[in-house]
Amino acid sequence: MTLLKSMVIGTGSYASDKVLTNHDLEKMVDTSDEWIKGRTGIERRHILEEGRTNSDQAAEAAKRALKDAGLSAKDIDCIFVGTITPDSSFPSTACQIQAKIGAHNAAAMDVAAACSGFLYGLILADTLIGSGVYKHILVIGSEVLSRFVNWDDRTTAVLFGDGAGAVVLGPSDGEKGLLSRYMKSDGRLGNLLYIPGGGSTCPATHESVDQHLHTIHMAGREVFKHAVRTMVDAALHGLKEANVKPEEIDLLITHQANMRIINAVKHRLKLPDEKVFINLNEYGNTSAASIPIALDQAKREGRLKEGDKLLLVAFGGGFTWAASVIQF
Ligand code: ACO
Repeated sequence: MTLLKSMVIGTGSYASDKVLTNHDLEKMVDTSDEWIKGRTGIERRHILEEGRTNSDQAAEAAKRALKDAGLSAKDIDCIFVGTITPDSSFPSTACQIQAKIGAHNAAAMDVAAACSGFLYGLILADTLIGSGVYKHILVIGSEVLSRFVNWDDRTTAVLFGDGAGAVVLGPSDGEKGLLSRYMKSDGRLGNLLYIPGGGSTCPATHESVDQHLHTIHMAGREVFKHAVRTMVDAALHGLKEANVKPEEIDLLITHQANMRIINAVKHRLKLPDEKVFINLNEYGNTSAASIPIALDQAKREGRLKEGDKLLLVAFGGGFTWAASVIQF
């Protein structure tokens, strides 16, 4: 089946003004600004205020994307939300956002693919628009990871932050649009990066809370190794499927997890620094939100011009990984 093309017609993002710096973390755990910056590239992260929810910040990003697209919430046929930090197990965060923005004509669902959740959602949305099922789809990545971090564990506490990014996808008006759609998973690597508690395997008990089983557990070095391998794999497949050479790429936006992982992809593709978008220093790792936040920022800063070729690459827990080349 030949799919029609879909394209990004609006972007938006939101992060709380509340910021936690590396120096703040030095007062909480045995770490240093120098260690965090040197090993990850992170300097600050935004933390959602108590009393506000994942769907609150996602709704804000969604409204900004709709405004940018010149559409009303009622024009939206479907909402996909990449998240591993939902408001609750159910209803989905997507349904909560739907209610908050008034997208009453839409179907809404969450995409559970960890840090690849936004890109998975974007590719699913593209195929639904391309096959003519829907016209306008809101794809969101939104996370409140600060509420799933063990703040006493220096190996994870320094890495994560909160925020939301959104795009509106609609039918292409010609050349513009997604040129490739690559998604992969390997469930055998699931226990390298996960939250053991809170699901039906390990419902909440006093003991599970005492043992921090409801927070992120990560085998950092192992994750690092697979992250480099899967990101490079995704980037190369995404390019090949689009029939685009690395040197034709105008901007690379990867999941913002660690500067050294991003550099490995940059070197493999032989891209100069100015073609690699980085905002990891400002936001830390915001999982599924990192790519749409970066995409919105890149657009607002004029780093993306009409006709540019953009390569998006993600990896995350599961393991999951994905890539797409987009003609902007
Ligand atoms: N501050 C100071 N020292 C620390 C800290 C910290 N915050 N964390 C760990 N250390 C120490 C360790 O205890 C260890 O000390 P030791 O040698 O005395 O045992 C030393 O630093 C080195 O630890 P490593 O774990 O080997 O450090 P590494 O260079 O691998 O960096 C890191 C750790 C940054 C976590 C790295 O492994 C990494 O980035 N992994 C991938 C993480 C990632 O991307 N996760 C998210 C992916 S998916 C998603 O986004 C949800």
